[in-house]
Amino acid sequence: MRQILFIPLIFLLIASPAAALTTSDCFDCHSDEDLTKTVAGTEMSLYVDENVFNQSIHGDMDCTDCHEDLMDAEDEHEESLEAVQCGNCHDDFMEAMEQGVHSPDVARVKTDLPTCASCHGKHDILPADNVRSSIYDLKVPNTCCQCHGSEDVASRHPGIEFDVCSEYEAGMHGIVLIKSGVIFSAVCNDCHGSHDILSAQDPSSRVSHNNVNNTCGTCHAGIVETYNSSIHGKLFREGTGEAPTCPSCHGNHRVDRAMDDEFLVSVTDRCSGCHPEEADTFRDTYHGQVTGMGYAQAAQCPNCHGAHDILPREDPSSKIHPANLVETCRACHPGAGTNFTMYMPHADYHDASRYPYLYYLYLAMVILLSGVFTFFGIHTLLWFLRAQKEEKSKRA
Ligand code: HEC
Ligand code: HEC
Ligand code: HEC
Ligand code: HEC
Ligand code: HEC
Ligand code: HEC
Ligand code: HEC
Ligand code: HEC
Ligand code: HEC
Ligand code: HEC
Ligand code: HEC
Repeated sequence: MRQILFIPLIFLLIASPAAALTTSDCFDCHSDEDLTKTVAGTEMSLYVDENVFNQSIHGDMDCTDCHEDLMDAEDEHEESLEAVQCGNCHDDFMEAMEQGVHSPDVARVKTDLPTCASCHGKHDILPADNVRSSIYDLKVPNTCCQCHGSEDVASRHPGIEFDVCSEYEAGMHGIVLIKSGVIFSAVCNDCHGSHDILSAQDPSSRVSHNNVNNTCGTCHAGIVETYNSSIHGKLFREGTGEAPTCPSCHGNHRVDRAMDDEFLVSVTDRCSGCHPEEADTFRDTYHGQVTGMGYAQAAQCPNCHGAHDILPREDPSSKIHPANLVETCRACHPGAGTNFTMYMPHADYHDASRYPYLYYLYLAMVILLSGVFTFFGIHTLLWFLRAQKEEKSKRA
């Protein structure tokens, strides 16, 4: 029954004098590699590779499914055509993009903003799990870095951290992805999302202060769990004070290898930024002074305090709890006993409540020294006056 109806329909279409252009009509002209057009002085290719198109995810669609304005075109078409609207079929992705920083609706500098085709291509679009796709994990950094790795584009967007790709490539996630080819490494959209990308200042962003720990935790779940039970994690939950999140210690894109000396020294600077008093006293100690000279084998903050498991001294699990201190020092001073731990890594003679002995010893020394200097000062002055007097009387 269906076939009977169908045949006359096809006949009608073929018979009509000016039929709409079919996909194969389009290829008659557009499979010519030399077909070009000049736009604003630059030559632009109008060649469409039939093989590539057929293998793309849209390969069984017609050209006019996307180039809708050619739906009714006959024989030839106009020179200038409407832009393709991917959102006509993928409205959910279009809506997501409208929420984000790449949205053309956002009232901001509109040049350079990516369209669907900037990230996906035009006639060669493939799904994310295809190794040749521009959105396959290994390729995502290249796709984003067309713009975010370009100094030229960055120069048109001053005031924001725009050109981040060299940092990413130098960090562990970049090295592990690019050099070792590990697809489980973090790529741009694992941390930022793909379509609804927001500025870090936006509280809903995946990389905002509120959400970034969970974002890292999608892969480093065990570490987030440890962090949550630390003093910093507790603080983060309570929202009091400025708690460090994962990037506070590791950075955003240039995440260094955790075992490296450079990382331990840089993280010590980061602890110091939030704990200036302990940092000052640390710098006065042997460990701090040799560290300051570039020697990384001496204890840094994490060697004594831990990293994701930092706890206050009173907590029995703390690495600096008096019961655990011997073990902490023994990591590097194998012979250390309880006496050894009497050494005060943050000795501060100004602080009477935390270091009373040191304070009163210092005070006693100051009193003694000033007493001695005052006594001898007066003594010398009187001696001088007397000597003058005697000189005078001698001359007389
Ligand atoms: C008879 C040859 C011919 C056929 C058939 C043809 N085109 Fe073209 N097409 C051209 C030429 C020539 C240009 C360049 C026009 C110009 O100089 O601006 C062009 C330009 C285009 C452009 C670029 C327009 C722009 O705004 O820059 C698109 C897109 C396009 N064609 C799509 C198609 C599609 C889709 C089909 C089939 C439905 C098709 N063409 C059929 C010859 C053809
Ligand atoms: C999945 C959607 C889609 C399909 C299907 C599609 N195109 Fe396109 N095409 C695009 C996009 C996107 C552009 C970029 C310009 C724009 O946004 O309008 C484009 C641009 C073009 C251009 C201009 C040159 C260029 O590369 O920018 C030509 C010519 C063209 N298409 C021909 C074709 C032909 C012929 C077919 C069928 C074989 C076809 N297109 C099918 C999405 C599509
Ligand atoms: C006429 C409707 C239509 C248009 C217009 C269209 N697509 Fe598609 N797209 C589809 C269909 C249908 C699929 C196949 C879905 C499937 O196989 O699950 C698809 C698949 C995809 C996929 C792979 C997704 C998956 O789940 O496999 C991507 C990526 C994609 N399209 C991007 C685009 C982009 C970018 C544009 C604009 C340049 C565009 N599409 C325009 C209909 C369209
Ligand atoms: C800034 C780059 C970028 C832009 C712009 C972009 N996308 Fe994507 N898109 C991606 C990435 C990366 C993925 C893969 C990861 C994912 O699924 O989130 C993706 C995934 C997709 C998928 C699913 C593919 C699959 O295999 O699951 C579709 C469909 C899609 N995008 C359509 C669109 C449409 C339509 C637009 C324009 C409205 C668009 N995208 C704009 C980067 C982009
Ligand atoms: C075609 C160029 C282009 C591509 C490709 C591109 N972006 Fe962007 N991106 C921009 C522009 C332009 C802005 C807006 C800058 C501004 O606000 O002035 C932006 C903004 C951003 C911002 C927010 C910056 C801020 O502080 O407001 C992030 C985050 C971002 N992009 C991430 C990505 C990611 C991740 C990808 C890949 C999935 C990507 N971009 C692909 C051009 C691009
Ligand atoms: C491991 C997670 C992670 C990966 C992978 C990652 N980023 Fe970021 N990105 C961040 C964090 C965290 C910030 C900073 C948030 C802040 O300023 O507080 C950031 C900031 C940015 C910014 C500055 C804009 C803003 O929102 O302030 C841009 C642009 C950006 N990233 C693009 C990229 C691009 C492009 C890639 C891939 C080459 C990438 N990022 C990979 C986590 C990541
Ligand atoms: C998509 C998964 C994923 C996400 C999201 C992710 N990472 Fe990673 N990360 C990895 C992988 C895989 C490695 C490489 C593991 C290795 O060292 O071999 C890695 C390595 C690291 C390293 C170096 C570890 C070492 O052994 O030296 C640090 C530090 C790190 N990530 C921190 C972060 C931070 C901070 C965030 C959030 C801003 C984050 N990661 C988000 C997957 C991820
Ligand atoms: C207070 C600073 C600090 C914070 C906050 C922090 N880290 Fe670390 N992280 C370190 C230090 C220091 C190391 C070095 C290794 C060590 O001592 O365990 C490290 C090591 C790592 C490693 C390598 C594995 C290892 O233990 O050697 C990964 C992965 C990592 N951190 C991820 C994270 C993630 C994810 C978060 C957020 C939940 C986070 N870090 C929060 C300081 C921090
Ligand atoms: C972003 C700021 C920030 C960074 C970075 C940071 N901390 Fe903290 N830390 C805090 C805050 C805030 C507290 C809450 C107690 C306080 O007021 O000192 C705290 C508490 C502590 C405590 C418990 C002190 C107490 O009085 O209960 C220790 C020990 C500690 N941090 C060590 C470190 C070490 C070691 C590092 C580096 C590996 C580090 N912190 C990095 C902000 C930070
Ligand atoms: C050699 C080991 C060692 C190093 C290195 C070290 N600390 Fe400590 N830290 C301790 C000990 C032991 C205590 C507890 C006794 C005290 O307060 O003097 C302590 C106390 C603290 C406290 C107060 C904890 C509490 O619960 O009251 C903070 C905060 C702190 N250190 C931060 C740092 C920071 C930041 C650095 C690096 C700049 C650092 N420490 C380097 C061993 C160390
Ligand atoms: C990460 C390794 C490391 C840790 C942990 C560590 N130290 Fe040290 N410390 C050193 C190094 C290296 C020196 C340089 C002299 C040496 O080789 O013994 C040093 C020197 C010292 C000195 C100077 C006296 C001397 O031997 O010349 C004292 C005192 C000291 N440490 C006390 C401590 C105490 C107390 C702890 C525990 C709270 C501790 N250290 C934890 C590495 C460490």
